[in-house]
Amino acid sequence: MSANDICIYGDLVLRQKAFPVVKFDEELKQVADQMFDTMFEADGIGLAAPQINISKAFLVIGMPREDQEPERLFFANPEILETRGEIGMEEGCLSIPGVRDEVMRPEWIRLRYQDIKGQTQELEADGLLVRVLQHEIDHLNGILFTDRLSPAKRGLLKSALEKLAKSKGDKRFSDYAEKFDL
Ligand code: NI
Repeated sequence: MSANDICIYGDLVLRQKAFPVVKFDEELKQVADQMFDTMFEADGIGLAAPQINISKAFLVIGMPREDQEPERLFFANPEILETRGEIGMEEGCLSIPGVRDEVMRPEWIRLRYQDIKGQTQELEADGLLVRVLQHEIDHLNGILFTDRLSPAKRGLLKSALEKLAKSKGDKRFSDYAEKFDL
């Protein structure tokens, strides 16, 4: 798996709701490790399984740290239990190359998830982590950050997004465009 294997806007898997993770086995660990490598190769800080064409509800995050390798975080079946506040922050996405924009999201969340061993955990997060978490959790629900922009901003991005979708050569593009109001 390399950065070239990351699904790009227009891939239908990015629009599907991912299935829950039920097996926490060696294979899951291996896929997660490959996702970390792929994400770092692509200079990303978060990657959700649907972005590598696996429609399962897990994601990895590499939290930047000063003078150290990024911290490797894994979340399966995440569920946001509580949110507070709202804040704007610029986002990009490895599946939407060349597009960045400011997105409004809650600034604090309480989250329940399962770790790589399948143990249920809870976490309170803010700052960059909560931003990346929400972006990646959206991926598990078939939502892309561009969906969260105002209609005016989405309008400005329309041709760039259409170009990305068409570059994939997906023959189902016209159905897709209709369904998701590209
Ligand atoms: Ni993304």
